[in-house]
Amino acid sequence: MTVKHRVVLSSDHAAIDLRQTIARHIQAQGHEVLDIGPTTTESTHYPLHGQAAAQKVVAGEADLGIILCGTGQGIMMAANKVAGIRCGVCSDTFSARMIRQHNDANMLSLGARVVGEGLALDIVDAYLSAEFEGGRHATRVDMIEG
Ligand code: RB5
Repeated sequence: MTVKHRVVLSSDHAAIDLRQTIARHIQAQGHEVLDIGPTTTESTHYPLHGQAAAQKVVAGEADLGIILCGTGQGIMMAANKVAGIRCGVCSDTFSARMIRQHNDANMLSLGARVVGEGLALDIVDAYLSAEFEGGRHATRVDMIEG
């Protein structure tokens, strides 16, 4: 049985539609969704949204986060500046599974201009259904945290 998570979602203007599609998709699976927007396609700044979602994770208001921008790269960089966040950009399901199993990534970033909707949903499923393996990987994750 897949563990249900509390998941915070955020994006910039480039990924509103995909973010809302993901929110509906994972809510239908029984995950608890905290979608912190934005809701309009007005141009905005991805660091604000990546860091806002990251703050929800480090505050314990969400277990995991999913963030999106055009490439997934800028918003990932912003989220990773928040202490305690380990966020990876994924464009394939193998990486999405591995960042949970080996890196204990507490955030996933997606590029709405990179992956189509079907692949994005598969990536999200791979990420949310994988679990951290601990052991030697925990030693390495602790080294990231310093
Ligand atoms: C916005 O045009 C774009 O730069 C942003 O969504 C993202 O791709 C940045 O990394």
